Amino acid sequence: MTDKNINLPNLHPLVDQFSRTISYLRLSITDRCNLRCMYCMPEGAEENATHTKTGEILQHKDLLSYEEMLRVVRIAVGMGMNKLRLTGGEPLVRRGILDFIHQLTSLENLKEVRITTNGVLLADYAEQLFAGGVRQLNVSLDSLQPTKFHSITGRDYFTRVWKGLIKARDLGFKIKINVVAMKGVNDDEFKDFARLALTEPFQVRFIEFMPLGEKSSWKKEQFIRAEDIKDIISTIGQLTPFNNNRDEGPARMYELQDPSGQKGAVGFISPISHHFCDQCNRLRLTSEGTLRACLLNDKETDLKTLLRSDASDGVIRESIRQTILNKPKGHTLEDDLQKSGKPVCIGQMSQIGG
Ligand code: 5AD
Ligand code: SF4
Repeated sequence: MTDKNINLPNLHPLVDQFSRTISYLRLSITDRCNLRCMYCMPEGAEENATHTKTGEILQHKDLLSYEEMLRVVRIAVGMGMNKLRLTGGEPLVRRGILDFIHQLTSLENLKEVRITTNGVLLADYAEQLFAGGVRQLNVSLDSLQPTKFHSITGRDYFTRVWKGLIKARDLGFKIKINVVAMKGVNDDEFKDFARLALTEPFQVRFIEFMPLGEKSSWKKEQFIRAEDIKDIISTIGQLTPFNNNRDEGPARMYELQDPSGQKGAVGFISPISHHFCDQCNRLRLTSEGTLRACLLNDKETDLKTLLRSDASDGVIRESIRQTILNKPKGHTLEDDLQKSGKPVCIGQMSQIGG
């Protein structure tokens, strides 16, 4: 890493230069996916999948093995990290994920493993995930209309996702639905999504559409601010903020109550209009084996080369420590967008994992 080596011996190893405690690790276990979301991995992009840095075609050997990931997690947990989420691409497409989860949950001091999934394989995996100790799922879903789902994701899988959601609900998972809010694409469905939070035990969270990844279809005209989404939702019921414990992450959560008294929880994640960088507690391990301290900053630490050399745990730990110390203070997305109007990071969401 090109950053200066910082030595602040008195700080806890997870505390960064800006006094944030980085306790949450997100692991992108694969860059592959069984959907082709227009803003992430549009049709055809997979043939051109490349290393963000070297431009070479990504192959299986380029991905970290489960053993390598387990080692990183073990070291990170040893440093005090206590929250872990598996993402992708789509994590459920990587073979062996159930065994991997078992190995993770066998680690001392790691209480829980959470997963972000597109839900396509959820009906097949839900029982085994539950048996494996997973209790919380984030399911990405941008449309409740099969035809539109198909046009956004490139696949006609709405019914499969819906079946997965119902099965997971019946098993007792805590489920959060993530909706990427896109003007002119799914803004006509925001109210339907909010009603889903009233009729089902799902938290529905709207995410501002971010200009991320060089293959992204992001357009300024499609961007809608969280405040404007909130105004739309407030037409169907009353929104009352509820205590946002850190467990909710960056979402601002509200109880929604409609005139008939039905209640549900909706949230707004506004990485662009309302920075939450000062509270960010995340570190990401990409599927390529790099540590990324900020989703919206392409600066990464190459951990894979270290893992594949004979580096000791101490050396890996120091690399994690330096990445944390060099975590950027925040992003400047809104300013960058004003200037260029284009996606600002090259890093692909499918390799970083959101
Ligand atoms: N803007 C906002 N959210 C995005 N996601 C993927 N790409 C973007 C983007 N450009 C979401 C996915 C998933 C989560 C991991 O990130 O839909 O819910
Ligand atoms: Fe797959 Fe998620 Fe990217 Fe959609 S956003 S293509 S579901 S990795």
